[in-house]
Amino acid sequence: MNEPVKNACPAPAGASTGQTPYSAWMHTDVLHSLQHPVSDHPGEHAWIVSVQVSELYWMLIIKELQIAQAQLRADDLTQACRTLRRVVAHHEPLNATWRSIAWMTPTDLLSILSRAVATYGKDTALQGWTYRQMVYLLGIKQAEHLQHFTPQPERWKQLNQALAEPSLYDDVLAYLDRNGFAVPAAMLDRDFGVPYAPSKAIEKVWRDVYADPNENRELQQLGETLADIAEGFSTWKYLHLMATRRTFGGRPAYFGTEGVAWLVPTMDEIPFPELWSARGFIGDPPAVCPHMHK
Ligand code: HEM
Repeated sequence: MNEPVKNACPAPAGASTGQTPYSAWMHTDVLHSLQHPVSDHPGEHAWIVSVQVSELYWMLIIKELQIAQAQLRADDLTQACRTLRRVVAHHEPLNATWRSIAWMTPTDLLSILSRAVATYGKDTALQGWTYRQMVYLLGIKQAEHLQHFTPQPERWKQLNQALAEPSLYDDVLAYLDRNGFAVPAAMLDRDFGVPYAPSKAIEKVWRDVYADPNENRELQQLGETLADIAEGFSTWKYLHLMATRRTFGGRPAYFGTEGVAWLVPTMDEIPFPELWSARGFIGDPPAVCPHMHK
């Protein structure tokens, strides 16, 4: 019989599961098994990782926005603002993902995409449900994008529900209404599934929120945080547009229309519209009484 080896290392804890606590918690084995290049282009791994990281951040932002909605519904503005500050922070690494694929020339992109089309069929990122759910939560409700999800009935159902439910902005307006600002009932009871139509009355609500720098400070903080989120979102769209210009230009894209021409008008889709339009008069001096000239 063999003697046990002196000073041999004991079997590592967790050996029975084949995992360390770190790998079990982070599911690293699963995570690193999810990249499957289809071309022989050496940059395809970078493309896949960059898109997958964006997917993770979109889901993270969805969860944060839903948490902020619940906090607003519970009238906990302080916690809602803290949650939304995290959303602002998440846009930094999300937008930085573009740096990882900034090396791409049209030849690089097409050699990867042509193999993806040959393997999986003609695709468009419009088939990505996380981005669409995030956009619906930000209040940009375009039902036509649901058409891409008929092959994924569960995701279609999930998105259809997100379309019909209040967005973060709807919850902000309901919060303002409960806290003494004059939000018209028609804005609160509207059909949430149709595109939001900006209103003069809501512009006035934001003007009132900002009227005195020493009043409604937390609401002004909320307004600035929402503006930061809208900026982070629009920055992603701008970086995407420039990446498309660099690698794809005016070629026909998924719908047969020129890719850049399809994207340019979407740059005007900026969340929380009256928070921006009200800036045309927030801070103006009060209207002068016409009789003062006499
Ligand atoms: C750099 C190469 C890229 C090009 C040339 C490109 C091109 C396009 C085009 C032409 C569209 C319009 C719809 C269509 O025709 O498919 C689009 C939409 C979109 N792309 Fe890309 N894309 C690129 C990279 C990416 C990456 C890396 C992501 C994700 C991380 C992405 C996510 C999206 C999303 C979410 C939309 C929908 C935008 C919206 O609804 O406003 N794209 N892309």
